[in-house]
Amino acid sequence: MSQPKVFITRRLPTKLEPLRQIATIEVWEKRQPPPYEVLLEKVKAIDGLLCLLTDRIDLQLIKAAGTSFKVISQMAVGYDNIDISAATAHKIPIGHTPGVLTDATADLTWALLMASARRVVEADRFTRAGQWRTWEPDLLLGPNITGATLGIVGFGRIGQAVARRAKGFDMQIFYTSNHKCEPELEKLLGVEFTTFDSLLQKSDFVTIHTPLSEETYHLFGDRQFELMKQSAILINTARGAIVNPEALYQALSSGQIAGAAIDVTDPEPIPTDSPLLSLDNLIITPHIGSASLQTREKMANMAIANLIAGLEGERLPHCVNPEVYL
Ligand code: NAP
Ligand code: GLV
Repeated sequence: MSQPKVFITRRLPTKLEPLRQIATIEVWEKRQPPPYEVLLEKVKAIDGLLCLLTDRIDLQLIKAAGTSFKVISQMAVGYDNIDISAATAHKIPIGHTPGVLTDATADLTWALLMASARRVVEADRFTRAGQWRTWEPDLLLGPNITGATLGIVGFGRIGQAVARRAKGFDMQIFYTSNHKCEPELEKLLGVEFTTFDSLLQKSDFVTIHTPLSEETYHLFGDRQFELMKQSAILINTARGAIVNPEALYQALSSGQIAGAAIDVTDPEPIPTDSPLLSLDNLIITPHIGSASLQTREKMANMAIANLIAGLEGERLPHCVNPEVYL
């Protein structure tokens, strides 16, 4: 019997040997993602697809898949690029990589929070521009982090990991999420549940950790920025489209909020003529939340494990749509 065929939409930071033993592999070698039209052709002749968050997996693509197509395995925890209901309707299980990137993403969230509060990027630019003349009492001042109030929007794996790190800074921590946690967990993490509006009003730092969905699309717009303190800083390491970019520009340029640091933009990459790029009180990183060496290798291995399970007709270890098994 011939081996199943798989298409992997980019080079992965791990060894493909376990997969090579059971499947014929084609890897898209270019730095840019395969164009949609290429993917559309590929799915007609493969048994499994290993994709990234930059690949659009929609109804048309799932309909185009051949009869042997069995599994979609995404190397990411977020899966807003995939039409889940279309895949489920076609009984295609979808794998993702939860948990292994939680700490790396929470670490980057803290890196951004601290860099934004203490104006690290501005200070570096200032120094390199030869502007450091002497020690000055009011040079590059920012707010205290220790003792400040942190608001966490979306209290799942990453939101909770951010809270664990905040404990070391004696912060008052509020969270809002779809569900209130068990009191034992709240006590352990030293957090208090509140409404979204009240969190925005009380927090010195607001950090976003929800998935992107119909409910969270542009969750942050003019009204939310108006509720925030003028001294507040927004951190977004979740998905760019959770924040309305025009409203963010208005809020930052008018002083409605003090600053922001974002690892994700809408669209991605951020257009080079985006007005956001002109702001000194905004830090932007290119979607590197999970970009530690160890984390990316674990994500790749997890995505391969999901893919192999799907090819072998087994339940995926980390499945987004377990309804396909009902
Ligand atoms: P998770 O464990 O599923 O946590 C998400 C949390 O958000 C859940 O507690 C969920 O509540 C809550 N939530 C969902 N909709 C909400 C809403 N409308 N309002 C308030 N809370 C809501 O996911 P995670 O592993 O922490 O990852 C979170 C997101 O981070 C991912 O979806 C991904 O988009 C992003 N991410 C980005 C990077 C990066 O490189 N920058 C890296 C990793 C992840 P329920 O579960 O009760 O619905
Ligand atoms: C990265 O953004 C992920 O969702 O894993």
